[in-house]
Amino acid sequence: MRGTTPAPEELLDIAVRVARQAAETARRMRAEGVSPVATKSTVTDVVTAADRAVEREAVAALREVRPDDAVLGEEYGDAEAAGPAAPGGVRWILDPIDGTVNYLYGLPHYAVSLAAAVDGEVVAGVVREPVTGNEWTATRGGGAYRAGRRLRCSAETQLGKALVATGFGYDAARRAHQAGVLAQLIPHVRDIRRLGAASIDLCLAAEGAVDAYYEKGLNLWDHAAGGLVATEAGLRVDGLSGAPA
Ligand code: IPD
Repeated sequence: MRGTTPAPEELLDIAVRVARQAAETARRMRAEGVSPVATKSTVTDVVTAADRAVEREAVAALREVRPDDAVLGEEYGDAEAAGPAAPGGVRWILDPIDGTVNYLYGLPHYAVSLAAAVDGEVVAGVVREPVTGNEWTATRGGGAYRAGRRLRCSAETQLGKALVATGFGYDAARRAHQAGVLAQLIPHVRDIRRLGAASIDLCLAAEGAVDAYYEKGLNLWDHAAGGLVATEAGLRVDGLSGAPA
């Protein structure tokens, strides 16, 4: 019920605790060796044993403290949720390993992304990089932070001076379309970065390490936490022509 909905700060505390533990599991499992266990939408869309183990562990940790909340995870979907969130209820949105391809190849650029939404609105989120320990957090209306520093996005508004991050989906037809868009964009910007983890791209935009980020076809778990971090750092986060992100 609405009256019993916890404050965003309280949800963030839980999210940070769960994400740190999940990040440590991901890091340890990577050190022990990793290989794809399955593919999802296409042969390039891999899932590792760690994606699944980290998600199971994080869901169990959330259930321990918040047994009645809904949980949406990348690997198991809503299957492990208690059900759709009731009015005022909390729904957790989890990407156990965002940047799975980087993870598979031993590139350090991957993250655990965990957000809490109330009535469909993300109110708290954390993105944690297991390798570097970088951790970005935000609460709605309460600002975005990394290592105690409040984040402010880049003030750059000229496209020609903008360093723009982007990403590509796994479906070949979508990729071909995305490559076409990129070919038209790149003559007009400072440069492009494709780092391989949408949640981190959004956090880098939040701290001005890139000026902007765009991508078509992200899933909610890719952008829920990072999108709040970016919003709270002053960025406009939306879809084309003002549609929802
Ligand atoms: C992917 C990454 C990537 C983005 C893809 C996402 P995953 O998430 O965030 O940067 O370009 O669209 O699907 O599969 O590694 O969790």
